[in-house]
Amino acid sequence: MFLHLLYWRCTRNGYGHIAARRVCHEVLFIDTANLDEIAEAKSWGCLAGVTTNPSLYAKTGGKLADFEPHMLKIAELCEGLPVSAESTATTAEGMVEEGRRLSALAPNIVVKLPVCEAGLAACRALADAGVRVNMTLVFSPTQALMAANAGARYISPFVGRYDDIALDGLSQLADVVACIKNYDWSDKNPDGRVEIITASVRTPNHVTQAALLGADIATVPMAALKKCLHHPLTDQGLASFAADWASPPIRDSP
Ligand code: G3P
Repeated sequence: MFLHLLYWRCTRNGYGHIAARRVCHEVLFIDTANLDEIAEAKSWGCLAGVTTNPSLYAKTGGKLADFEPHMLKIAELCEGLPVSAESTATTAEGMVEEGRRLSALAPNIVVKLPVCEAGLAACRALADAGVRVNMTLVFSPTQALMAANAGARYISPFVGRYDDIALDGLSQLADVVACIKNYDWSDKNPDGRVEIITASVRTPNHVTQAALLGADIATVPMAALKKCLHHPLTDQGLASFAADWASPPIRDSP
């Protein structure tokens, strides 16, 4: 009976994969290159990392020449937390050269590479050199398996962009999680483990379902992160507590 209840409890999202209880928990990264947003999310005490991409950096209005200094500022602001900085090179050689430069900026920089022929080759070379790689733009379990085999420390399957074309991003994420969690990657990359970063997150429900599926991380833009935090009943409760606390008989003079 209990096992049946546990199975129902874990698969009620309908994706059929049991999220086995694990030591760690789903951690939250912020998906932005905006320093103010990172500082604010960090001040809440629940931030575990940062992911950026060329579009998010462009959104800050930053110039190309300031890209690496900006990534360094984020790395220093988030000392000890992994910060993904993306290479924009298109060849394996270019990605390795840029990846070495980015990872040399700070010990918590993770190099982000696209899953493609050049990206896989560069990932292998960088992982063999002790650099942590986040393989991005992942849309299938086979891409995820190839990335893990090429030495990726993190794999970023996209959910929202999948939904954008009327496909089921969470179902794809479920398959990626199940495939990767079936194997031991301890000899593939410097840290000896592969973590899945749920990316292209649009809603709190994406975060919840990713946790139910056993994804290690969700990287969330600030707007969605705030929606994850706020709940109308919490606000209502706070307001009624405050009203009761400010009114008789508590405020009555003794
Ligand atoms: O950083 C990668 C990814 O999270 C971007 O997602 O689809 O919101 O641009 P998207």
